[in-house]
Amino acid sequence: MTAVVEVAGLHKRFGEVRAVDDVSFAVGAHEFFSLLGPSGCGKTTTLRCVAGLESADRGAIRIGDRIVFDRAGRVDLPPNQRAIGMVFQSYAVWPHMSVFDNIAYPLKVQGRARAVIADRVARVLEILGMRGLERRMPGQLSGGQQQRVALGRALALEPAVLLLDEPLSNLDAKLREQMRAELKLLQKDTGLPILYVTHDQTEALAMSDRIAVMSEGRIHQLAGPSDIYRRPATQFVLDFIGTVNYVPCRLEDPTADPLRLILADGQACDLPRPSFVPAAGDVLLAVRPEDIAIGPDGRGLMAEVELGSFLGHANEYRVRLGDRVLRVVGDKQLNVAEGTTVGLTVRDGLLLERDALERPLARAS
Ligand SMILES: Nc1ncnc2c1ncn2[C@@H]1O[C@H](COP(=O)(O)OP(=O)(O)OP(=O)(O)O)[C@@H](O)[C@H]1O
Ligand SMILES: [Mg+2]
Repeated sequence: MTAVVEVAGLHKRFGEVRAVDDVSFAVGAHEFFSLLGPSGCGKTTTLRCVAGLESADRGAIRIGDRIVFDRAGRVDLPPNQRAIGMVFQSYAVWPHMSVFDNIAYPLKVQGRARAVIADRVARVLEILGMRGLERRMPGQLSGGQQQRVALGRALALEPAVLLLDEPLSNLDAKLREQMRAELKLLQKDTGLPILYVTHDQTEALAMSDRIAVMSEGRIHQLAGPSDIYRRPATQFVLDFIGTVNYVPCRLEDPTADPLRLILADGQACDLPRPSFVPAAGDVLLAVRPEDIAIGPDGRGLMAEVELGSFLGHANEYRVRLGDRVLRVVGDKQLNVAEGTTVGLTVRDGLLLERDALERPLARAS
């Protein structure tokens, strides 16, 4: 993989806060790469360092074949020499300029010829599916269209990489989903690498080729969406991505296949062997709602349905198992009345050592 952006050993402090704490990653030639993590974990600071809006305390950044930042070598190029396009959450489209002029603006600043500008804007509008709207003013556009104008302005410069910081968070849920797909298609069609920042795990999972999950300035895991979801490297990643139920239990034979787990109330269940199996003793089963199957009483773990919620595409149940309440997602055909005793089977899950908090679950592979 030839990386378009390479970030190595980046550090950035604000007073006592380590906003970025030894972050390294590389964005591939046609890659959609996301930085994902909770508020304050350092995503924006990392992106601003790449953009040249912030100077890191340590580390180096390469974009294309150019070293744009190197603390040790005293290189720190300004944003306009970094071959980047940027769109932020509070995307500023200029309200007094037409769609055409908004997109043309950065090219005008560069002093490009009129014919070149007209040609470039037309191409960007074509990519964004906005041909015919060039004379409109932003006030005459929907939120999604305004967002596309902001993207258009970033694309007009034909950057080596697009840097996007929560660009969809100002849009309502429906539009956000639509723009998510459009952005992904745009990226596929143009092959333009994207470095994307979001705190929304659904967004990151849906769009990214790879995701770096961050917490407190550090990358906990860097992997594809399904590995992040299925094989979280740390407890933080496990908790942050999706929903997870924890069930304390006892593992007697770590070599068995499937593994047999004994719950606090003496019930036993089988678990397909996960990639990491702790030593025999007290362990914690971590299982996602969609990985528990609800069946008739007598098959699997005996539990009672406390609450059922209709989600449209599925049903979600809160199920009491001993002293725990588990979240279980069943398909919409399955309709279980509240108060019913059911049998639960665990189709897939992870095992943690009981005191595993913040320790790696398994070696990253
Ligand atoms: N200019 C600044 N001065 C002081 N502290 C800052 C500054 N910018 C960021 N920070 C701090 O650095 C940490 C990382 O901030 P950053 O904006 O990178 O987080 P983020 O992951 O983008 O969060 P969010 O999802 O809320 O946008 C936070 O603790 C923040 O308060
Ligand atoms: Mg941010």
